[in-house]
Amino acid sequence: MSERVFRVWRGSGEGELAEYRVEANEGEVVLDVLHRLQATQTPDLAVRWNCKAGKCGSCSVEINGRPKLSCMTRMSVFDEDETVTVTPMRTFPVIRDLVCDVSYNYQKAREIPSFTPDPEKSPGDFRMWQEDVQRQQEFRKCIECFLCNNVCHVIRDHEENKEHFSGPRYLMRVAELEMHPEDTADRRLIAQDEFGLGYCNITKCCTDVCPENIHITDNALIPLKERVADRKYDPLVWLGSKIGVR
Ligand code: SF4
Ligand code: F3S
Ligand code: FES
Repeated sequence: MSERVFRVWRGSGEGELAEYRVEANEGEVVLDVLHRLQATQTPDLAVRWNCKAGKCGSCSVEINGRPKLSCMTRMSVFDEDETVTVTPMRTFPVIRDLVCDVSYNYQKAREIPSFTPDPEKSPGDFRMWQEDVQRQQEFRKCIECFLCNNVCHVIRDHEENKEHFSGPRYLMRVAELEMHPEDTADRRLIAQDEFGLGYCNITKCCTDVCPENIHITDNALIPLKERVADRKYDPLVWLGSKIGVR
């Protein structure tokens, strides 16, 4: 066991960093140390967590400025004398201490039209190639930690963009449905016009922070952009829109 220096964001709204000296054991993660702080010094410290196994997506914070799951960040990655600074996700309003109001994300999820199969088909009639299944499965690994939405510059420093931008998490959901062979809805226009795909300039920060290693940019956002471009610049679609049939 060794004593470590932790700086933790306390308060809501205009909060501040508070410094603590706290014990850490070999093999522990940052969340263990936050729990020890709660148990020994700060019983009112607000921390959101659930599974402690990297699967519920609840414990997202910023550790030394990097978006991380606190339950999956080992203390051994820091030098013994390094101060560990834990702050809430910056893109969402702080409720208290390390807990954010992430309702923006749920609002964006609700705005996406749900899976729309051919009404003539019953579930047993669906047929998919294995490569289509695998594409969907990658996107379905998402644990909704919202670290990708937290880090995306389009909304991280621009509150005003939130209304028009669904963030990488939910643009990935639009891509997932658009690429689903049994989904009949055409989501290409709404991806651009309603969910803000055009705001994404492929910085790939979302992909870099995803704890599930989902290739958000390469496998979801760029293919979705290509589909949108195909539709927008398809001469038949252009002609059809002029004569009002497409
Ligand atoms: Fe988290 Fe990755 Fe899902 Fe984004 S795509 S919410 S980073 S698991
Ligand atoms: Fe944002 Fe990811 Fe695009 S970080 S700009 S959504 S590639
Ligand atoms: Fe569930 Fe960290 S507590 S992902």
